[in-house]
Amino acid sequence: MLIKLPKASDCKESDVTPESLYLSRRTLLGSSLAGLAVSALPRWANADDASRYADVDPGHAPGWFTEKLPQTKWQAITVKGEAITPFKDATHYNNFYEFGTSKGDPAQNAGSLKTEPWTVVVDGEVGKPGRYALEDFMKPYQLEERIYRLRCVEAWSMVIPWMGFPLSALLKQVEPTSKAKFIRFETLKDPKVMPGQRSDFALIDWPYVEGLRLDEAMNPLAILAVGMYGRELLNQNGAPLRLVVPWKYGFKSVKSIVRISLVEEQPKTTWQSIASNEYGFYANVNPQVDHPRWTQARERRLPSSLFSPNVRDTQMFNGYADEVASLYTGLDLRKNY
Ligand code: MTE
Repeated sequence: MLIKLPKASDCKESDVTPESLYLSRRTLLGSSLAGLAVSALPRWANADDASRYADVDPGHAPGWFTEKLPQTKWQAITVKGEAITPFKDATHYNNFYEFGTSKGDPAQNAGSLKTEPWTVVVDGEVGKPGRYALEDFMKPYQLEERIYRLRCVEAWSMVIPWMGFPLSALLKQVEPTSKAKFIRFETLKDPKVMPGQRSDFALIDWPYVEGLRLDEAMNPLAILAVGMYGRELLNQNGAPLRLVVPWKYGFKSVKSIVRISLVEEQPKTTWQSIASNEYGFYANVNPQVDHPRWTQARERRLPSSLFSPNVRDTQMFNGYADEVASLYTGLDLRKNY
């Protein structure tokens, strides 16, 4: 697979923080909202809800998503004092190798992915395995907005308002057995609609696989996301269901999930299989442990340009140390990168 990697020099410019905050409010407008029940209106009329993303196309959300929207817990977790990345950057600068290796490829090619109907399998070491239509899978959960930093291992970052629910809530539902030690996630494998899976250059043994230790998965910050910027996920961002683990490098946040398995052994993950000396299982954001080919001490916050590179220091666990550092007590983070 062709992988475009940043040069270490990418992060040497001065830090310029953008002040353009995209968290603007708007009035109740937008085609996908037109069918809302009247009972939902007072909440919508209160501008403290999804109506905040004025510059975002409302999309064409599936019915189950639109029905859940009015009960969303907005800003359940947020990032103070840092601008939300413009929607355009978050949806046009992507990594989704199933649709190509350039940052613009997913936006260009992921339209071929059909996300309705969508089936999610939960299996392995669980008391309640199942095969669900996504709308049934989602039934028990209230949506929460989680505004998180996303730090890619390639040393760029964004701040994204996700919508989803805690992974721990799913785990409680499916009742892991005493043998379950890890959770393994699998992306759709469908070479007919995913050109990257047909490519002769691909080093990836599809499907894309990621995993977490069970206690990491139970951490309240770990979510399964179905939306962003007050609307459903776009295909290039991993529609209709993706993982978001904000204290880890972005490659852990596996997209377009079709299978979630509770397992005894640490799963072999995609990037580990490609280059285990560069990409570990833990992949915790750590400014003190450099990638073999570039520094992880700094990052380029998007939007970034030649004249405004917008470089800042990377924070330990991406700024979430208070919430997650205790998961790694006694673990050598240099060895377990
Ligand atoms: N999931 C799948 N299935 N395929 C991928 O190529 N790329 C990962 C992750 N999830 C990837 C994936 C990487 S490297 C990053 S940085 C994030 O998705 C990027 O998420 P975004 O494009 O929504 O910003």
